[in-house]
Amino acid sequence: MKKYFFFAVLPLLCLASCKSQKSVSASVPARVEDGIIVLETPAREPGQESALGMACDPIDTVRVGFVGIGGRGTAAVQRFTFLDNVEVVALCDLDSSRVDICNSILTSAGLPAAQGFVGEEAYRQLCEMEDLDLVYIATDWLDHVPVAVYAMNHGKHAAIEVPGAMSIDECWQIVNTSEKTRRHCMMLENCCYDFFEMAALNMAQQGLFGEVYHVEGAYIHYLAEDWGFSETWRIDYNMTHRGDNYPTHGLGPIAQVLDIHRGDKFDYLVAMDTPSYNGKKAAKRYRDSEECLDGDHTISLIRTGKGKLVEVQHNVYAPRPYTRMYQLTGTEGFANKYPSAGIAVKSINGHDYVPQPVMDSLLNAYKFDFVKEIEEKAKTVGGHGGMDFIMDYRLIYCLHNGLPLDQDVYDAAEWSAVQELSRISLENGSMPVRFPDFTRGDWNVVDGFHFAFKQ
Ligand SMILES: NC(=O)c1ccc[n+]([C@@H]2O[C@H](COP(=O)([O-])OP(=O)(O)OC[C@H]3O[C@@H](n4cnc5c(N)ncnc54)[C@H](O)[C@@H]3O)[C@@H](O)[C@H]2O)c1
Repeated sequence: MKKYFFFAVLPLLCLASCKSQKSVSASVPARVEDGIIVLETPAREPGQESALGMACDPIDTVRVGFVGIGGRGTAAVQRFTFLDNVEVVALCDLDSSRVDICNSILTSAGLPAAQGFVGEEAYRQLCEMEDLDLVYIATDWLDHVPVAVYAMNHGKHAAIEVPGAMSIDECWQIVNTSEKTRRHCMMLENCCYDFFEMAALNMAQQGLFGEVYHVEGAYIHYLAEDWGFSETWRIDYNMTHRGDNYPTHGLGPIAQVLDIHRGDKFDYLVAMDTPSYNGKKAAKRYRDSEECLDGDHTISLIRTGKGKLVEVQHNVYAPRPYTRMYQLTGTEGFANKYPSAGIAVKSINGHDYVPQPVMDSLLNAYKFDFVKEIEEKAKTVGGHGGMDFIMDYRLIYCLHNGLPLDQDVYDAAEWSAVQELSRISLENGSMPVRFPDFTRGDWNVVDGFHFAFKQ
């Protein structure tokens, strides 16, 4: 019997235990625990405190430095010429012609030219400037966090384009640095400021949809055709990274509706993807490569702590119309933005959308007051129809008035985290992955998502 145990049973037991301890490839230590992948939460350093609801001293004139002034950064510089009590004091890019272009935007608007910095590491000099309050980062994805962390460590607030961070480790880096330095780190999720989404958020907050329990968001945008000549870093990233590589446009607005880390939390995620079809064709065409790790269509499902369902999709390869989905289902109503916006309310007719005139009056009635005030100017300045300007306006308004920002560092981490979490789930047969709690247990302390205003 002893012999049988050693030669037959023991190897099987070893195999079973090896199987249950399968190593998980992740940017932070990870393990499988009771059928779910769990990522390690780093301990806070001494003196580091929660940044929930963090407000900093008001800044009368916000002095801004831009790092990364390609397509998106240049458009932001242009928008900033329309903001009051703001000075663009520094511009940084790898390419000096980008600095010249942005300086000509400033001088054409009657503003002084900004100090220029050129080169891969030149952002360090910009962040070290004494007369600077905010570093606005619109580089390619891999430089977002190194610049933001350096900026905060040098006493500056950071605003980062989307996605804010590209791994769980990077998510913790921005959380830990913001908590330690007491500097803001906002991800510039402009889709939270689109007009339909903001009105629908207000409707949800006022109870028009009852209990909202299922939400959908997406980034479905046919980019593959453009990649050869514009966003070259993006195709390189997608070729080498499986998962939802751009989750925040879809996720941001629906996370605000669910009060994520303000009463509810993302609990766990499972992901599935298709093979790469058009992604591989783009890789072949533009990079002469046979490989594209990103599946053409990726779906991530997240269950919240309260048991609600979140669905996020990513597809930048299909010849189909643009959509961010944005769908809310509640016990009393429903909102849907794409392909055409509609609202259904049980008390009117739960089987159909309300007629267009009713919807128009609902959208008007539920418009936030600050949107009413800034809407006309935002539509004139533009940026995705005005939402980009509203985002910049709110960022500067909160800094002027020493208020907590609309999107805090935990939002940046949670919404960006879907990139690596979806990759981990996909690589492990769609196994559930526990969502890191970037608030370290404080997800239920703040009572709902709200915009802050001066009293
Ligand atoms: N929110 C939106 O709607 C939206 C739209 C487009 C792009 N984006 C985001 O904006 C960012 C930039 O995208 P883009 O389309 O402008 O790309 P882009 O390639 O046009 O611009 C990136 C710029 O960053 C510069 N850069 C790279 N590394 C740098 C460094 N270390 N220091 C200084 N400059 C550096 C490059 O030279 C380039 O000019 C990305 O994160 C992207 O996801 C957001």
